[in-house]
Amino acid sequence: MCGIVGIVGNQPVAGRLVDALKRLEYRGYDSAGVATLKDGAMERRRAEGKLFNLEKLLSEKPLAGEIGIAHTRWATHGVPNEINAHPHFVDGVAVVHNGIIENFAALKTELMAEGAIFTSQTDTEVVAHLLARYRREGLDGKAAMLAMLNRVEGAYALLVMFADEPEKLYAARFGPPLAVGHGRGEMFLGSDAIALSPFTHEITYLVDGDCAILSRDTVEIVDFSGKPVSRQKQISQAAAFMVDKGNHRHFMEKEIYEQPEVISHALSHYVDLAGLTVKPADPAIDFANLRGLAISACGTAYLAGLVGKYWFERYARLPVEIDVASEFRYREMPLSKDQAALFISQSGETADTLASLRYCRQEGLAIGAVVNVRESTIGREADAIFPILAGPEIGVASTKAFTCQLAVMASLAVAAGKARGLITAVEEQEMVGHLAEMPRIMSKVLNAIQPQMENLSRELSRFKDVLYLGRGTSYPLALEGALKLKEISYIHAEGYAAGELKHGPIALIDENMPVIVIAPHDRFFEKTVSNMQEVAARGGRIIFITDETGAKAARLDTMATIVLPDVAEIIAPMVFSLPIQLLAYHTAVFMGTDVDQPRNLAKSVTVE
Ligand code: F6R
Repeated sequence: MCGIVGIVGNQPVAGRLVDALKRLEYRGYDSAGVATLKDGAMERRRAEGKLFNLEKLLSEKPLAGEIGIAHTRWATHGVPNEINAHPHFVDGVAVVHNGIIENFAALKTELMAEGAIFTSQTDTEVVAHLLARYRREGLDGKAAMLAMLNRVEGAYALLVMFADEPEKLYAARFGPPLAVGHGRGEMFLGSDAIALSPFTHEITYLVDGDCAILSRDTVEIVDFSGKPVSRQKQISQAAAFMVDKGNHRHFMEKEIYEQPEVISHALSHYVDLAGLTVKPADPAIDFANLRGLAISACGTAYLAGLVGKYWFERYARLPVEIDVASEFRYREMPLSKDQAALFISQSGETADTLASLRYCRQEGLAIGAVVNVRESTIGREADAIFPILAGPEIGVASTKAFTCQLAVMASLAVAAGKARGLITAVEEQEMVGHLAEMPRIMSKVLNAIQPQMENLSRELSRFKDVLYLGRGTSYPLALEGALKLKEISYIHAEGYAAGELKHGPIALIDENMPVIVIAPHDRFFEKTVSNMQEVAARGGRIIFITDETGAKAARLDTMATIVLPDVAEIIAPMVFSLPIQLLAYHTAVFMGTDVDQPRNLAKSVTVE
């Protein structure tokens, strides 16, 4: 994940900016840069690789100035080199950016037609060119920012400095986090409060749709239409050495809201977001010639694998054998060398998953590890590592690791389908295009449904039992919804394939057991609606999680209907994960449980 920092200060900033970047190193990066402004002239230093390369450069060619911006880049569009490193400069405009500008290709074509010359391969450079264009047209910095923000689409945190406005820094957020730090005669901006902790603990967190204008003594925050908005200042507990909760009550909440940002990083490792193609998978797993795939994992990671099974079978026609690792390891499953095995684990240390891996190793299969911790045992023992790049997950209940695991599985399934000659170039572009839209859609959904989820959770916390239903890829989501709810709220919850309802669980239906149905308007929708009718006919209360088309089509009496935007089938599991996570989270908060460390559970299960 990229890291960004800015200071409008009363003493030289270059060294302090680099120190702040060091506190963001945990986010991962492959190049870095810093720009300052002095006497109306902006200068920058950028270097590929680790921060000591940038520090070395700065010691040889120091930068003066009491205002500046800096960046650690985790490459999404364009290779990690000095030219693509931020800050980007265009005609007196300097920009650093974390996230993805989705419509950059269209904007670039438009700007090039007007004569703009692009020097990098990044999506960020269009922001600098757009701002430069608006400044040429006579807009001041603030008006140019608002005009630009109304043109760009995607998920982004941006910092901007203008050479002719030497007292101001501009920032905007839609998706990735951004915090304002209030100093004495100085103001700061950073990706999180940890970066700013040596400067100040007085923090204002920007929310999506905020544009901030900072001077040494003032912070003005407006929405993208220019209307002033007020955001509270709070005292951060962040210390430089720790991962903090930001402005969230729990790590779990923070991790839920981080998903648009981390998913874009996960995706950019597997797909070319500019060309809308998948990158070929690690050659250690020869998807083109495989006869089958075995997947094994535990808990939430297993459920990510179960969604993956639907994708690999549908898009790559690759038969998938999947089981929870505690069973897989002892099943003595006949396997052959023309199969490969994938092991999914956030921690990379789960004992049963590791034992399953070792079983497959004995059987001579090529082994892939879908892990968050690359250096973990599972990562080290695999032939190919497929990192999920979710960043540290502190909450015991997995949220962002799950959706990043899904994003990786979706990308790999498309790569496998392409390698097996089953996905055409047009289909590939369409599917990757949908994946690329996902961070923006997730940001929007998180903002839109939060109040409804909180209200609904208050009601849900009164029940003792809950049933989750879904079909297709919504079936593993139903299992995940039930798992998430039971593990942190301690409410008894079960997930079922909707078609199984009448084979047993229907006996439980009454007004005391809400039935949460996950049903985007997909191929299975009508069938799931029939199951909902069966529930309604028996006095069951339905919480219906659907999309706009589904909400219009169903016309059922429900306890609540949660309406998400219509999204492509390949991204629905990630988008529909958001309401089930929020529902579990808020219910647990109402019940007063220890949300981040639920009873009896551990983050890493290294025993059988
Ligand atoms: C549930 C949860 C667990 C883990 C499981 C596997 O929210 O987090 O079910 O998914 O213990 O852990 P990893 O992914 O570390 O192998």
